[in-house]
Amino acid sequence: MLVSKYRPKKVDGVIGNDEVKKTLVKWILKWMKGEKQKPILLWGPSGIGKTSLAHALAEEYELQVVELNSSDMRDKESIERVVNSAMLSSSLFGKGKIIIIDDVDAMATKEDMGGITALASILKDVNAPVILTADNYWDRRLAPLRTEVQAIEMKRVSPGAVASLLKEIARKENINISEKEINEIAKNSEGDVRSALNDLETKNYTARDRKKEIFSVLKVVFKSKDFSAIARTVWMADVDHDLLKLWIDQNIPIEYENERDVAAAYHWLSRADVFDGRVANRECWDLLRYSTSLMSAGVAFAKEKPYVKFTKYQYPTYLRKMSQTMSSRRMRKSLFLKLGRGVHLSSKRVSEMVEVFREIAKRNKKEFSDFYRLSEEEVEFLEKI
Ligand SMILES: Nc1ncnc2c1ncn2[C@@H]1O[C@H](COP(=O)(O)OP(=O)(O)O)[C@@H](O)[C@H]1O
Ligand SMILES: [Mg+2]
Repeated sequence: MLVSKYRPKKVDGVIGNDEVKKTLVKWILKWMKGEKQKPILLWGPSGIGKTSLAHALAEEYELQVVELNSSDMRDKESIERVVNSAMLSSSLFGKGKIIIIDDVDAMATKEDMGGITALASILKDVNAPVILTADNYWDRRLAPLRTEVQAIEMKRVSPGAVASLLKEIARKENINISEKEINEIAKNSEGDVRSALNDLETKNYTARDRKKEIFSVLKVVFKSKDFSAIARTVWMADVDHDLLKLWIDQNIPIEYENERDVAAAYHWLSRADVFDGRVANRECWDLLRYSTSLMSAGVAFAKEKPYVKFTKYQYPTYLRKMSQTMSSRRMRKSLFLKLGRGVHLSSKRVSEMVEVFREIAKRNKKEFSDFYRLSEEEVEFLEKI
């Protein structure tokens, strides 16, 4: 998984939250000089690098990590045992130690409220650096801890910083992804780096696997006349029915050269379409298998004999067009939202008076786009609609 492979090993590898990183480094350096410091509670939304930062700090300053987990939180004795062992100043390897108590709020379920109180009293005079992490400092369950820690809020990471990280990882991993898609993932992540990395990973897999599967179906449909092989491949491939139909539609005239083959293939494909209409109208799902057979085996048997050649199958034009209008729809939505926010109107009202905005934009484009915080594309889009 990308999240574990690219877990930051140095403090600087953690993106965003620069001030927090500086504070943490100062804090640990003081500890290492023998100046006792309050434990630190890093808090903020999930996936922004709290746990990573604590571990990166330990790694960079060569501190041995002692983790306190939820099973240690049962009672005061268990907590003390772990903490005391960490406080025995030098370890076997002469390394300093750091205690990390991850997701302390999750440990504080209703039943072990006592655990948190015990922890609070132990933290009062612990003689080793301690970092705790939590989602929300203001969580009631954490109340007993508040006076014992120095709380540091970590903020969501900016989309720009997330995008640069994704770009770097995509390059290292040879992931084929456009700049636009990267920006999209970064924006959707809302500063959650973990989810951004997972999106990058799944996107990569699904895109690659789906294409491979579709190609294997196309190959057997276009290159063979073996009904059972075709039926089996289509069945096993688990490719979306409508998607497959589009791919076959797009590629019939690319694979078949003989006019009669092309005509017959389209005849069977159109029959499949008729069945799909019936399936949709009458919700008669049983008919779907006829449609599947018509568009796969029907198209396969339309050729007199297979063409011996290499064919580069094409991505359906229809899908490309759809995704283009989709991005324009998305653009429209975000543009109207921004314009509406600027003048306190709903997107709907904005859409009704879009000419007015266009006219104002014409007078001073720069001022206009600054005021509404529009991107260049959005301004351009406004001029066109
Ligand atoms: N700020 C960040 N910089 C670099 N990678 C990050 C950052 N935040 C999260 N990640 C990635 O996401 C994974 C999970 O992050 P984690 O530190 O566990 O988040 P949190 O503890 O805030 O929920 C990490 O292993 C790392 O790959
Ligand atoms: Mg965490």
